[in-house]
Amino acid sequence: MSASVQNLKLESEDLLRIPGIILNELAKPFVGREEEAKVIVLALLTKEHAVLIGEPGTAKSALIRRAAQILSMKYFMYLLTKYTEPAELFGPLDINALKEGRYVRITSNKLPDAEIVFLDEIFKANSAILNTLLTIMNERVFYDGYTEIPVKLWSLFGASNEIPEDPELEALYDRFLLRHYVKPLTDDNWRALLRAAWSIEKHGYPEPSVRIDRTVLEKLHRMVFEVDLSPIESKLLKLFSILESKNIHLTDRRKGKALKVIAAHALLNGRLVAKEDDLIVLKFIAPHDLDDFEKVNIILSEELKTSYKFLRELDEILASIREVDGYVSSFPSISSRLVEYRLLEIYRDLESTKERVLAMRNETSDEKVHKKVDEVVNAIDEVMDKIRRKIGG
Ligand SMILES: Nc1ncnc2c1ncn2[C@@H]1O[C@H](COP(=O)(O)OP(=O)(O)O)[C@@H](O)[C@H]1O
Ligand SMILES: [Mg+2]
Repeated sequence: MSASVQNLKLESEDLLRIPGIILNELAKPFVGREEEAKVIVLALLTKEHAVLIGEPGTAKSALIRRAAQILSMKYFMYLLTKYTEPAELFGPLDINALKEGRYVRITSNKLPDAEIVFLDEIFKANSAILNTLLTIMNERVFYDGYTEIPVKLWSLFGASNEIPEDPELEALYDRFLLRHYVKPLTDDNWRALLRAAWSIEKHGYPEPSVRIDRTVLEKLHRMVFEVDLSPIESKLLKLFSILESKNIHLTDRRKGKALKVIAAHALLNGRLVAKEDDLIVLKFIAPHDLDDFEKVNIILSEELKTSYKFLRELDEILASIREVDGYVSSFPSISSRLVEYRLLEIYRDLESTKERVLAMRNETSDEKVHKKVDEVVNAIDEVMDKIRRKIGG
């Protein structure tokens, strides 16, 4: 009995490592595309759809293609135009059946046959294919007015240069639970980009060193629903109201599904319990318009005790400690009452800063934050030692 429990535990511990492995493998050949890779992995864990929006040449297609390579699942990709015919996506009509007056599509190797679908220029979808697409995405059923068959679609990925303006496409846009605005790399990444692009041009993309099949993905998907979400529920509701008050409206569909993505983010970080950090995924769920992406980011960074926020604060503290250190060193060693008084004052400030820094350690389990906390505490201790020596205590 206990042996089998242990096996089960081991197995789920191994499984817990897999989302992180997929994420690394996906982002590996690219420069600065970790967020994009994360969106794709979250879509896979939640069995949802994701769209990448951004200017051409930002590796959107390349990322989705690589995701498909990592998955041993049936893949279908197509570049949509305004004129794309249903047959191009869903398969041609069966001529023999047609002779007998029946409309049947030959869907093999077409979209209805695929588990992972990538539609480039997704918002070029015209009304001839739109409704069929919506039913496939929502109900996992292919229905073209004649034939109705269940499909094995896991996730559909879309890429586009822009957000759709046509209200007809709003329903399609809403089906993408995850949305991400892919921005061109900033100048600090250009050198790395040259190297990466050179290597890709020369050798092609490196083969993924892992392959994930549907069974594993299904197990991971089931684990998503085992994540304990109770620690974040109230905070999530609070964030919904804050977003709403700032005119960022989530449809009920998106509100309801947010929990899944939060749970998947916990899983991606090797946890079966959600915490505040996981609410950061709202940045992929809440935005609608292009400016929303930045707005939501700002709201979340104000509202969440995220690792990012801690690291930034710790960096600021460290910089000010270094200043204090320089200041303390500049004091003469023969001390007057006045100097002593000033040093004691600084000492007390350092003590309270140290307390605040140590408190941060308890508010997050992020190792990067913990390391930074240690670094800052060491720096504080050194200055405090220095002061003690000066005062001669
Ligand atoms: N961040 C990046 N890291 C490495 N290569 C990149 C990056 N961005 C673009 N590239 C290169 O540019 C190519 C074009 O990307 P592509 O996926 O076609 O862009 P998009 O689909 O966004 O138009 C990629 O195949 C890659 O060689
Ligand atoms: Mg492309």
